[in-house]
Amino acid sequence: MDSDAPPEPQRTGPSVALRLLLPEHAPQLTRLRTENAEFFRPFEPAREPAWYSPERTHEDLSLFARLRAAQMAYRFGIFPAGVDDDELVGTISLSCIERGAWQNCNVGYSVAQRCNGRGYATEAVGLAVDIAFSDLALHRVQAAVMPRNARSARVLERNGFRREGRATRYLQLNGAWEDHDIYAVTNDG
Ligand SMILES: CC(C)(COP(=O)(O)OP(=O)(O)OC[C@H]1O[C@@H](n2cnc3c(N)ncnc32)[C@H](O)[C@@H]1OP(=O)(O)O)[C@@H](O)C(=O)NCCC(=O)NCCS
Repeated sequence: MDSDAPPEPQRTGPSVALRLLLPEHAPQLTRLRTENAEFFRPFEPAREPAWYSPERTHEDLSLFARLRAAQMAYRFGIFPAGVDDDELVGTISLSCIERGAWQNCNVGYSVAQRCNGRGYATEAVGLAVDIAFSDLALHRVQAAVMPRNARSARVLERNGFRREGRATRYLQLNGAWEDHDIYAVTNDG
């Protein structure tokens, strides 16, 4: 095997499986984005109508492949585990991977509205952190959450993330610069 080849991590837990998002997922990712446009809107950058086109999804999946090849980011689909139907119900990413003294990445995630409340995000974040620490040998996983996003804060707390502080006007979401709470977990084992 080529020792410089990027790892191809995946994980399966009791309820969900994380698998790398590939060009073949374009139809499913387009559907996930379209069906959840209103639900995701408050938590994402403002989207042009073109964001919801299959062509744009395909471009994004190609970009994800290039970032993975450069070992800069890994984007996974969240799939229900143990179900024949291979349905994409969410996404989770490990991005902005920094080496050197920091050994850090950001985790970001979303789950289809109709699948909320089943514990999928909590399990997916746990699996992604395990990939970050085991497969990618990182030391720290960081997340940024709007203070009013109590569900997301709960997902992080359930996974042992600690709240480190508040970053003012940190990300532009849905057209407004929003304060965020910074959370992190470190691999101190
Ligand atoms: C945040 C999100 C990923 C959660 O997905 P999910 O699969 O429903 O999450 P889970 O079921 O694993 O866990 C949700 C937790 O929040 C709790 N919760 C639900 N509504 C809540 C509320 N209004 N206030 C506080 N906690 C709440 C649930 O009880 C659960 O905690 P528990 O397991 O201790 O009972 C999903 O709502 C989403 O995609 N939101 C839009 C995008 C987003 O916010 N992404 C994260 C950006 S930082």
